[in-house]
Amino acid sequence: MKIAVAGKGGSGKTTLSAGLCRSFADAGLKVLAVDADSNNCLGYALGFPQEMLNKVVPLSDLRETLKERAGSKDSGGFFLLAPEVSDLLDTHAVEHGGLRLLVMGMVTEPGGGCVCPENVVLRALTRHLVSQEEAVILDMEAGVEHLGRGTATHVDWLLIVVEPNPASIRTAQRIASLGRTMGVPKIGIVANNVKSSADEDKIRAELANLPCLGAIPHDPMLENAAAVPWEKDESFRQAVGEVEAALRK
Ligand SMILES: Nc1ncnc2c1ncn2[C@@H]1O[C@H](COP(=O)(O)OP(=O)(O)O)[C@@H](O)[C@H]1O
Ligand SMILES: [Mg+2]
Repeated sequence: MKIAVAGKGGSGKTTLSAGLCRSFADAGLKVLAVDADSNNCLGYALGFPQEMLNKVVPLSDLRETLKERAGSKDSGGFFLLAPEVSDLLDTHAVEHGGLRLLVMGMVTEPGGGCVCPENVVLRALTRHLVSQEEAVILDMEAGVEHLGRGTATHVDWLLIVVEPNPASIRTAQRIASLGRTMGVPKIGIVANNVKSSADEDKIRAELANLPCLGAIPHDPMLENAAAVPWEKDESFRQAVGEVEAALRK
């Protein structure tokens, strides 16, 4: 299972990503959580200790290493398209509570979005990750920028988190259409922050061209929680469990 979670900012990407990680781990799968959002929130949502997260260096900050791997250091601008990346996972992922977390960070090379050596390595790494682990959950940057850089092109599923409001629904359409262009095999939505069945119906109707894998109710326990209260929050666990079951099916 290789799943990229996308959606508008604040729609619940990190919340759903953390939930899916916990759900797959509870089912006995080896899970790798990948924080591909420059805000780096996934570790907190998963309850990793602050001291551990303070020490994490996002992969994108390892500029010299990335340049070396891409072979671009002394090559006058040329670099390898298939750099060796397998060890980066072992040296840079952190582990807590049976979950591994890799913080990607973001490359902000001026004008270099797609082809700078750092991104070549990050992309190779994503490709490697998604071919090694049993469950990889990528918590993506808001909007569609990350897809544009191709980080999510090797996933099985693109899950788009949608809230019942027009902006969120519009963003979901844009992300879905970009995902299709990039050839992501399966694209689906998860409704979040649903306060009534009318909310859910509205999302399903407006995005009827996309399969809806589940709906997560508006949940005061999630609202201001530093970490997703997985053990305590039965209703969230159940809603995420339904998404997981739909993904497996
Ligand atoms: N179903 C929900 N009910 C209540 N609050 C939610 C729900 N889903 C997410 N939240 C809250 O909304 C905020 C944004 O969620 P988050 O997962 O960080 O969004 P994103 O990663 O898309 O920016 C967080 O404070 C989170 O706790
Ligand atoms: Mg987030």
